Amino acid sequence: MVEANIQSGGPPKLPMQGVPQPGREEVLHLPRVHISTHPVMRHKMTALRDKNTQPPEFYRLVKEIGALLAYEATLTLTLEKTSIETPMKPMVGERLAGGIGVTPILRAGLGLAEGFREVIPDVQVWHLGLRRDEHTLEAMEYYNQLPHKVELQVCYAVDPMLATGGSAIDAINVLKKRNIPRLSYVCIIAAPYGLLKLSQTHPDIDIYVAALDESLNDVGYILPGLGDAGDRQFGTF
Ligand code: PRP
Ligand code: URA
Repeated sequence: MVEANIQSGGPPKLPMQGVPQPGREEVLHLPRVHISTHPVMRHKMTALRDKNTQPPEFYRLVKEIGALLAYEATLTLTLEKTSIETPMKPMVGERLAGGIGVTPILRAGLGLAEGFREVIPDVQVWHLGLRRDEHTLEAMEYYNQLPHKVELQVCYAVDPMLATGGSAIDAINVLKKRNIPRLSYVCIIAAPYGLLKLSQTHPDIDIYVAALDESLNDVGYILPGLGDAGDRQFGTF
């Protein structure tokens, strides 16, 4: 709940007002955190952040960045041998072992999940709806389409914005109940505050980030960020 500022009789306290935040340099070298350095990613991030980028272009960029992140996040997947025949002769090839899952955190994670599907078309998509309360910044679950019987090598929770970390931590908590051997979290922009919280709460997962930003403002938005990732994808301003 937003606390009334009773002593001063002033306006209600904003959720991140006065909350200490780590700087970028404090989270740059956390274990299992991977921050993209790819020039094409940086180029696309500038177009994505630009306030003049309209929803159709914004959504297309989220998908493209999702595909680039998928490429980076799948670098260490396990392969298994498989026998095939080329038009010339038999050979032993390789294919991804086990199923791959992607959990878009609704609704802003939808574009990222589409980017993953372009790289690995046969991923299983498990939708999870979390909404951040704008006063408390706590995430509330409102939709869950996770199957109960699962055989996956890995599942990627995908969401463009890692702000306070509340939504990401809850999403990983939900996925951990499904006993998947390996979980990763993938986002476009992370604030140091949320990145540190997620990494400390779930030190056993890999975290892939396209860009690490400066801080959160008093209402929990990332600076410089890109604004509201859901509204900008779906035109709901
Ligand atoms: C946004 C974003 C994350 C969450 C990040 O979603 O897509 O899910 O906020 O904030 P946190 O790290 O402080 O939890 P939002 O709840 O606004 O829902 P939406 O995707 O429907 O816009
Ligand atoms: N959610 C968003 O969409 N943007 C932010 O900056 C923080 C949370």
